[in-house]
Amino acid sequence: IVEIILSLVIAYLLGSIPSGVWIGKVFFHIDIRRHGSGNIGTTNTYRILGPVAGSIVMIMDISKGAVATLLPSMLHISGISPLIFGLAAILGHTFSIFDHFKGGKAVATSAGMLLAYQPLMFGVAAGVWIVMILLTSMVSLASLVAFPCVTIAIFFTHDTFLFILAVILTGFIYYRHRGNIKRIIKGTESMVPFGLGNAL
Ligand code: G3P
Repeated sequence: IVEIILSLVIAYLLGSIPSGVWIGKVFFHIDIRRHGSGNIGTTNTYRILGPVAGSIVMIMDISKGAVATLLPSMLHISGISPLIFGLAAILGHTFSIFDHFKGGKAVATSAGMLLAYQPLMFGVAAGVWIVMILLTSMVSLASLVAFPCVTIAIFFTHDTFLFILAVILTGFIYYRHRGNIKRIIKGTESMVPFGLGNAL
């Protein structure tokens, strides 16, 4: 039990690493929380610091969820679902100990958990996400469509625990995107400079 608790703390700390904030501060001397949407994730890093920094943050944030989910198998811990470790990383990412218990919108870290636990479902989520970005040029909208879609796909895998978690995470992701949702409805959500959304 001590092993499990310690590993969950490690997963939480891993998730807490605010990749976007640290990369911005170390390499660009810019605090991305003060620019753009103010979010610490891939999209805002891309928006403020460009595609290279954005890609690095995406890889780091996906890795946080994936590595945390793989922790129990790496440490030979059994009797507890790896998803609990993924969830600890997601909580770290959104309520970061290194960011005054604030944080991101849970998209990339949740995707990382899926990648490690059920790569096919990660593929479904990533596929919908990319198609939606190309169609609308809005990353937030793509995230808001990809999560319900992958939750429906998960339903058909008959993995009840993953399905319940996916429903909860989808609700949580909608909550974290409430500002984005208002902007999408008003037609003022910011767009990435590619995809069909710019032409509309
Ligand atoms: O993953 C976050 C993304 O869906 C939206 O980011 O910066 O546009 O609020 P942002």
